[in-house]
Amino acid sequence: MKFFLDTANLDQIKEANSLGVIDGVTTNPSLVAKEGDVDFHTRIKEICELVDGPVSAEVISTDTEGMIEEARELAELASNVAVKIPMTEEGLKAVNTLENEGIKTNVTLVFSANQALLAAKAGASFISPFVGRLDDRAHDGMKLIEEINQILTNYNLDSEIITASIRSPRHVKEAALVGADIATIPSSVIKKMSQHPLTDIGIQRFLDDWKEAQE
Ligand code: E4P
Repeated sequence: MKFFLDTANLDQIKEANSLGVIDGVTTNPSLVAKEGDVDFHTRIKEICELVDGPVSAEVISTDTEGMIEEARELAELASNVAVKIPMTEEGLKAVNTLENEGIKTNVTLVFSANQALLAAKAGASFISPFVGRLDDRAHDGMKLIEEINQILTNYNLDSEIITASIRSPRHVKEAALVGADIATIPSSVIKKMSQHPLTDIGIQRFLDDWKEAQE
């Protein structure tokens, strides 16, 4: 399973990179806006320099032509840019054109299996179902990941599933259990994944025993 970091923050990317567990990065307009007064293209370039794997950068346009134009500019920034395109009919047309040009796309804001199937058939490299936002509305986000995984397997469709909108370590574990290709994870969740109170207690006990034996 690949781990992407879900952030536009350079410090968070450097920190997670130093753990050796990061295979890519996803951003979205809200995450970039959170960074304050940064130039979008400059920030994407900076992220691409820090990370070897795919870096998702999202278009703002909602019409096909606008999306294609923005995507071409984003793809010029670095060879590892994947362009995030919203899951609409206009978006699907853009995905088809861009993938034919060799530009990788990540279809975002996916909330149903049929949306994912359409994105896969249009040729998307990545599909991002949002599990947290579904759970927020009392739906079962992980069930959707399971369904999409089954459908892509049934028909040998090549798109990779990015489990997105992850809110907790439990989401990561469940995405791994149902066989999602990728989880895009906020850095706060990566931190929580590494922690366990019994680990802390165990370290303290070893240190105490060691110290006692030296006295
Ligand atoms: C990543 O690709 C998504 O944009 C992100 O995971 C959305 O997360 P949110 O639902 O917490 O905003």
